Amino acid sequence: MEHIEIKGGHRLSGTVRISGAKNAALPILAATLLAPGKFQLHEVPQLEDVKIFLRLLQELGVKWERTSDHSLEIDSSGLKNFEAPYDLVRLMRASILVLGPLVARLGRARVALPGGCAIGARPIDLHLKGLELMGAKLKIKEGFVEAKAKRLNGATIYFDITSVTGTENLMMAASLAKGKTILENAAREPEVVALGELLLQMGAKIKGLGTDTITIEGSKELKAVDWTIIPDRIEAGTFLMAVGAAGGKLIIENCIPSHLDAVLEKLKNAGLKIDIIDKDKIGVQRRGKLKSIDIKTQPYPGFPTDLQAQIMVLMSIASGLSVITETIFENRFMHVAELRRLGADIKVEGRNAIVRGVSELTGAPVMATDLRASASLILAGLSAKGTTIIQGLNHLDRGYERIDKKLSAVGARIKRLKNGKEIT
Ligand code: UD1
Repeated sequence: MEHIEIKGGHRLSGTVRISGAKNAALPILAATLLAPGKFQLHEVPQLEDVKIFLRLLQELGVKWERTSDHSLEIDSSGLKNFEAPYDLVRLMRASILVLGPLVARLGRARVALPGGCAIGARPIDLHLKGLELMGAKLKIKEGFVEAKAKRLNGATIYFDITSVTGTENLMMAASLAKGKTILENAAREPEVVALGELLLQMGAKIKGLGTDTITIEGSKELKAVDWTIIPDRIEAGTFLMAVGAAGGKLIIENCIPSHLDAVLEKLKNAGLKIDIIDKDKIGVQRRGKLKSIDIKTQPYPGFPTDLQAQIMVLMSIASGLSVITETIFENRFMHVAELRRLGADIKVEGRNAIVRGVSELTGAPVMATDLRASASLILAGLSAKGTTIIQGLNHLDRGYERIDKKLSAVGARIKRLKNGKEIT
C-alpha cells in the first residue's frame, strides 16, 4: 500500500503551478457527448477521476487519445451505447453528468444510481426532476435510472437546492432540447460558467451564466471545438492554506484570483499576507501566528465546502476560538477525528465544528477518508512537529495532481512510499 510521509515544521518557498480544475474537466468531458467530431481539450488534469470518466466515455463508444501530458483529443462520433455501468458510477458520483447529454443526443440513457458517499446522502432528485419536466420518461429499475425522450422539450425548472452538477446536467440537456429552458436558482460556480462558455462555443444559445437564472435556447446540433480547462480554484486555495499551515512564502501561478474572493478575504482576516501579483498569480506569506475566524460554507460566491477541511487545519493552530459551519453536506466532518489524533482541539455539534487553537500539532499516523479530508491531513502534517503518515491515498489522487511532488518542490519534506520504497 502507498502512503505519504511528512516531516513537519519546514517552511515553504517558491512557485507552484496550479493544474486544470477537476470540477471543470468532468462536465466538459461529459459535454463532448453532445456533438460528433473531434474535440481538442487542453490543461486536462492527470487525476483518477478524469481517468474514470474517460473509461466511462470509452464504454459509451467514444474514442480518445492523449496528445500531450495535459491535452486530449476526444471524438464521440461513434457514440452508440447509452448505459453507464455501476462499476464505474460507484467509483465517481460525477458520472451522473452523462445522463443529460445521453438523453439529449441518443434519446435514451441508462445510468447506475450513484448511492451515498462518505460526505453525505447526496441524492440526484433535482437532476431527475429537471429531465422529467423536459419531457423525459424516467424509471428506476434494478439500481439504474432509465430515461427516454424522442427529443427533450424546453421547460422552466426551479432548483429547491442549488446544485452544481444538477445545473450542469440540465444545461447540457437543454442545449439540444426543442425550445427554451429556464433554470432558476441555478448554481453560479466558475465551473458552471466554464461549461456554459464551452457550450456557447459549440453553438448553444445561453444567457445568464454566472447568475442564478440561466436561459438556454436549444439547438438542433452542436459542433466539436478546441477548449482549455480553467485552473482549479480548490487546488489554489489548498496551496494558499499550505503556507498558512507550514509558514513561508509562495507564489501561486496559473490561478484566477477572482474565483477565490471569499477565500482570500478569509485568509487575510486570519492574518496571511495576500498579494494579487497579476491576473493569474497570487503571492501568499505567513507572518506570525494565525488568528481565529469563523467560517460558513456556502454555494459560490461564498466560502467553498471543498476548502472547509483545509481551513480547519489553520484554525487548529490559530490563536483563539473558531466556529466552522458546514451548510452544504451533512456529514463532512470526518477529518475531525483524524485531526484530533494530531492534537487538534475540535468539538462537533451538529453542523458546527468548534475549533480551539493549540500551540502546535504533533505528527501521528492518520487515515484519509475522502478527497478534501486527505488534503487537510497533508496540511496538518506540514504544520505538525515530527512525522505524519497518511494512508488511504486513493482519495487524494482523485482530485490533486501529485500534490506531494508539488509540495516537495517548494521545500516541504514529503515523500510517497510503496512497500518502504520512495515513488518519485
Ligand atoms: C459539486 C462538486 C463538489 C462540491 C459540491 C458543492 C463536482 C464534480 N463536484 O458536487 O466538489 O463539493 O458541488 O460545491 O462539481 N442535492 C440534492 N439533490 C440533488 C442534487 C444535490 O439534494 O439532486 C444536494 C446535495 O446533497 C448537497 C447540495 O444539494 O447537499 C449541493 O450539492 P451539489 O451542488 O449537487 O454537489 P455536486 O454537484 O454533487
